Amino acid sequence: MTEKKRYRSSQWFGPLDKSGFIHRSWMKNQGFPEDLFDGRPVIGICNTWSELTPCNAHFRKIAEHVKRGVYEAGGFPLEFPVTSLGESSMRPTAMLFRNLVSMDVEETIRANPIDGVILLVGCDKTTPACLMGAASCNLPTLAISGGAMLNGKFRGEEIGSGTNVWKFSEEVRSGVMPLCDFQEAESCMSRSAGHCMTMGTASTMASVVEALGIGMPMNAAIPAVDSRRYALSHLAGRRIVELVREDVRMSRILTREAFENAIRVVGAIGGSTNAVVHLLAIAGRMGVELQLDDWDRLGRNVPCLVNLMPSGKYLMEDFYYAGGVPAVIRELGDLIHRDALTVNGRTIGENTADAPCFNRDVIRPVGDPLAAQGGIAVLRGNICPQGAVIKPSAATPELMKHRGRAVVFESIEDLHARIDDPNLEIDATSIMVLKNCGPKGYPRWLKSATCRSRRNCSNRG
Ligand code: FES
Repeated sequence: MTEKKRYRSSQWFGPLDKSGFIHRSWMKNQGFPEDLFDGRPVIGICNTWSELTPCNAHFRKIAEHVKRGVYEAGGFPLEFPVTSLGESSMRPTAMLFRNLVSMDVEETIRANPIDGVILLVGCDKTTPACLMGAASCNLPTLAISGGAMLNGKFRGEEIGSGTNVWKFSEEVRSGVMPLCDFQEAESCMSRSAGHCMTMGTASTMASVVEALGIGMPMNAAIPAVDSRRYALSHLAGRRIVELVREDVRMSRILTREAFENAIRVVGAIGGSTNAVVHLLAIAGRMGVELQLDDWDRLGRNVPCLVNLMPSGKYLMEDFYYAGGVPAVIRELGDLIHRDALTVNGRTIGENTADAPCFNRDVIRPVGDPLAAQGGIAVLRGNICPQGAVIKPSAATPELMKHRGRAVVFESIEDLHARIDDPNLEIDATSIMVLKNCGPKGYPRWLKSATCRSRRNCSNRG
């Protein structure tokens, strides 16, 4: 077959010798028929499914829909697990493991007969970790986000992941909310499959996937349990086979222009400041020069258009019904590099040229934004000489200019030990500084594993 010589997987499955026998024979123990080894594109489905990552616990079903599309298009899908990072449970912090997972993804792709990759990503760190690992391999790649949970509903009110946890816990501490109500709210908040449904890190990174062009249109906003999430996955399965045949590698999609688009979209959606470190790291893997100051230069004056918690009042389900990321990109007009290529074969401008908006209170027009300066601003000063970031749209006006005492905590343990101490010298003008988020004495092997080479140390910022 003509395809037989063209693809990377043919090095494993093509030779009619001892090694080819071994590579085919052992795979056949799973019931794969002979014709799947005829040289067709092999698609790795990189799955961050885990019951320990509840945001990604529905990914087996997504993978099944991807496989349908891959088979239909004449590809051979092979699903593989990588370490999953569950933000809600992992200790000391999922961020400590992001680079480790990126190595898991990278080395698994490199070591196996894979021609193209679908990344199934969702909970916060799974998205950057998988993109970083895949970027180092530079095969044709398409990312599918798992989608957000349905809106939280508690006693007639919409409640958002994270945002309302902090609010409720403060109300319990101050005696406003009974503990039994607090416990009832747990299941009212997280009532379906999917990731956090505020514009936190997971929703932000899902939007980044779409803005970079490495995901399909509407990747970010379709709720996890909406049937259209599965239809998107099916179509993505078809499309990745075409990307392999067309040899459209990640480097064709993740260009400097794509990263600049992502920075501006993060500003317009009121996205998480965590996107800064993740996007710099992904750019580092692609060899795209992106600096902290680019966020300030490109993003500071982008208006925040999306009225979602924590900056605003709505949630991801509302964002989908209002038009999602395509409506935001259309609204941004010339702030977006409209000729940037995306994985569906069209430019981001073509994908969004007619994108409708169905709710102007959820997605505001540029002329009437939620906040005029929505982007992420970079701050420098004596307590952050290398730079710090702030999301102006989520900050109160008082935070934007402040003078007062700084109460410094040396570590998270120090904060927990002293925060409720009535003798803590703190007043209404004080600010609190947490110096070192990492706990004392986390394993030395993990430090060295995450920093063992320059390539894997691309988490600048
Ligand atoms: Fe997984 Fe928030 S805990 S996205």
